[in-house]
Amino acid sequence: MNNIKDHDNLNSKRVLLRLDLNVPLKNGEIVDETRIIKIIPVLDFLIKRNSKILIISHVGRPRGRFNKDLSLKPICDYLEKKIKTRVNFISEDILKIKRDDLFKEPEEKVIFFENIRFYAQEEKNELNFSKHLASFADLFVNDAFSCSHRTHASICKITEFLPSFAGLQFETEVNALRKVTIEIKKPITCIIGGSKISTKIDIIKNLVPKLNNIIFVGGMANNILSFKGSRIGKSISEENCESIIKEIFEISKNTLCKITYPEDVLIGKSVDDDAQIKDLKDIADDDLILDVGPKALKRIKNIIENSKTVLWNGPAGYFENPNFAKGSIEIAKTIIKKNKDNSIYSVVGGGDTVAVVNQLNAIKDFNFVSTAGGAFLEYLEGKELPGIKALN
Ligand code: 3PG
Repeated sequence: MNNIKDHDNLNSKRVLLRLDLNVPLKNGEIVDETRIIKIIPVLDFLIKRNSKILIISHVGRPRGRFNKDLSLKPICDYLEKKIKTRVNFISEDILKIKRDDLFKEPEEKVIFFENIRFYAQEEKNELNFSKHLASFADLFVNDAFSCSHRTHASICKITEFLPSFAGLQFETEVNALRKVTIEIKKPITCIIGGSKISTKIDIIKNLVPKLNNIIFVGGMANNILSFKGSRIGKSISEENCESIIKEIFEISKNTLCKITYPEDVLIGKSVDDDAQIKDLKDIADDDLILDVGPKALKRIKNIIENSKTVLWNGPAGYFENPNFAKGSIEIAKTIIKKNKDNSIYSVVGGGDTVAVVNQLNAIKDFNFVSTAGGAFLEYLEGKELPGIKALN
């Protein structure tokens, strides 16, 4: 894999730069800037070398349609302030843009396109769309490791039309995760939470044989609870997951991997509600499970205490409301305590999980903080990610 840092002549070269600026947002405000901070080095690097930068990113899952709530404009404005360089945000239809329309002013250095997932062609990895994007630039840089598990046009197909390079953050992530997988010490515990259930559920069955414990929390746990016959009220869950969950439990029987999920929870009637502790049997039809309960938390903390490696992806609850942040915060604190006395190796990944750790100002108290969520789990699974394969 070639890295952009080894390129010897970037002067005036047009660089199509894929970033992952899919940052957590609440009412249009950026909740956590980690993913933005991590890509500033690649921008500084390219600006210093006098490149012409064309940023492509996505936020959320607009599924090929324009959605004003998922515009990248606020993120672009934020980035512009951070890099102290004027950024030209282009919201017009990317399909109508031609190479000569870009960088008309000689001083212009950075162009930032609107959400690439507003175009259905992106997720279809479409050839003509990729070719069109490639026509804007002289080379392509992927500094979005956290999107590299996606076979999308601006990650994969584009590499067929431009000389392609890994970015600085991309390389850092791959090197760190490679080290984790080679040097990993048992018992290994993986805590999997968050709400992107469909992204993760398939991966888990391949992770089971590699792990000693899997702890399901957050939205992920709801599917397990429902499979086990518990009521989950109106909590988020994914349809048609029964067979895969069955498989996960069956595989775990033949391995040393123990699966843990909450026996009690915190519920609210809405995400803005106060928290109420409930045993699973007491969950009402209009309850939303929004965090793990105290008994579950005690058990989870005990498992962490007895682990040598902890991999954590996905918050334990709806941490945006402090009433439901306790599970995530206590998990973080337990890991941090063990990290301080060097009795655990800890890796945390994913936009929301990193946001939790950041709220505690504790990024430095984990061995490695990955910006990647789904990509992080797929890497651990041992697969070659499509984005890495494309660069190779
Ligand atoms: C992430 O947040 O993991 C990446 O931005 C990829 O997002 P996705 O799961 O919507 O593809």
